[in-house]
Formats: sequence, C-alpha cells, structure tokens
Amino acid sequence: MPLIHYIESNGDEYETKLALGNSVMQGAVDAMIDGILAECGSKCRCGACHCYVDEDWVGRVGEASDAKKIMLEMVVDPQINSRLSCQILATKALDGLVVRLLKSQILINLSLLRAPPACFVQMIF
Ligand code: FES
Repeated sequence: MPLIHYIESNGDEYETKLALGNSVMQGAVDAMIDGILAECGSKCRCGACHCYVDEDWVGRVGEASDAKKIMLEMVVDPQINSRLSCQILATKALDGLVVRLLKSQILINLSLLRAPPACFVQMIF
C-alpha cells in the first residue's frame, strides 16, 4: 500500500497508507486531515480537494486533464502543481507521494463546523 504524506500549511505532517486505487482525497478524509474538504465526493465538481503536489512528484502524478484544469481555474490560489486530490489514485509508483494542503481550505472547513445548519443552508442557496 502506497504511503502518502500530507503537509498542512502550518507545517504539521501526516502520513497514511492507501489501498491501491483509493484517492489521495479519500486518504485525507479517512484520516480526518483538515485541509481536504471534498464536498462533491470525487465528482470533479467542487474543487474542495485542491492540493499542491510536491514538485518532486509532479512528473509521476502527471498533468491534470482539461476537465480538471477547468475546475482548478476556480480554486483559491491555483499553482502549476495544483491538482484535485480526488483524482490522484494510489499506485505503487506514488509510494511516498508528498502533497501540501492549503490554509484556505482549513479556514473554510472550520467556518462550516461553526455555522449553525440554518446559516449553512442560507449560505448555499
Ligand atoms: S472532491 Fe470535489 S473535486 Fe475533488
């Protein structure tokens, strides 16, 4: 099982092993890592699983497809190494992958936890 390293914007680091074929997003959600929200459940519609792939790993992860690039144009602070973590699937070649998580997603995550459900519904609609 490939080992994935997640680095939060504050420098905190987490590791988790993923079953082959599971997404980097799912690994973060299962490990309760704050920097990945993943609101659409891997449907490539929310961008809330945005991460930065460490520069040493960009070549192995590969380029985002055109559809994913469109979503990545809408995320906060996109960079050349931005990827949707729900679309990065664990393979043996990605054993040791390092992804960096965004502070902006932690702030969104915390604000959702603090908002009463009625306010959350009003924010969406
Ligand atoms: S979980 Fe929504 S785009 Fe990845």
